[in-house]
Amino acid sequence: MNLLFLGPPGSGKGTQAVRVARRLGVTHLSTGDVLREAVKAGTELGRKAKGYMEKGELVPDSILIDMIEDKIGGGHLGDGFILDGFPRTMPQAESLKQMLAGHDMSLDRAVLLVVDDEEIVKRLSGRWFCPQCQAGYNYPAQVPKVEGRCDHDNAELQRRPDDEEDVVRNRLQVYKKQTEPIVDFYRNESILAEVVGTGSLDEVFENVLQAVKETVK
Ligand code: AP5
Repeated sequence: MNLLFLGPPGSGKGTQAVRVARRLGVTHLSTGDVLREAVKAGTELGRKAKGYMEKGELVPDSILIDMIEDKIGGGHLGDGFILDGFPRTMPQAESLKQMLAGHDMSLDRAVLLVVDDEEIVKRLSGRWFCPQCQAGYNYPAQVPKVEGRCDHDNAELQRRPDDEEDVVRNRLQVYKKQTEPIVDFYRNESILAEVVGTGSLDEVFENVLQAVKETVK
């Protein structure tokens, strides 16, 4: 099963991709995670991406397309995958189609998580994570046992710089302008599955699984 997860920032792509990948036994690739690791490690990729990410802008297409080409060409996506956060522009979507075809592969579903803007701003302003073990917390739904400390290793929790409200609002604008057009691209390819992204994590998970199996629009 080759899937991609689409949706605005904070719609739950990462949360659900991890769970669905585990259930289906496929590889999960988050371009946001790869870029954040590169920024943390201070690699050339990280240095190129940092400024764009901090402002909530998209990193240039050529950088992302090369990154995904390396993963596909290197066989890193295994026998099935979930792409989380790629593609985000029409050139990325068109390149992905060509890259997969070049390896006799194609997409089975593009899952779109639908969540409204105010819910997203609320979710992202409550998001914290542990810089050591990457465990995620969210106020008020998933609070740590000790205020500001990770339950697993007691490290001080942090926020993503791009979760500040003004940056989140810019990320939403960027999504509407640059990423929403690819929803129609996948609708026209007849592989789009739209899922309501609100409700409990378990409810959304079940809806995503159902959509992956059945709903093709
Ligand atoms: P990326 O990391 O992909 O950011 P994003 O798409 O903005 O996604 P998020 O990680 O913020 O949200 P998500 O949808 O994964 O939601 P999550 O599950 O975390 O990209 C970051 C940056 O990298 C981009 O801005 C860009 O600069 C660059 N980049 C990445 N890919 C690129 C590309 N292809 N091209 C160019 N640039 C690229 O959930 C969010 C929060 O909500 C969590 O705290 C979670 O616990 C909570 N939550 C989840 N589900 C629910 C629920 N049902 N109810 C309540 N809370 C929930």
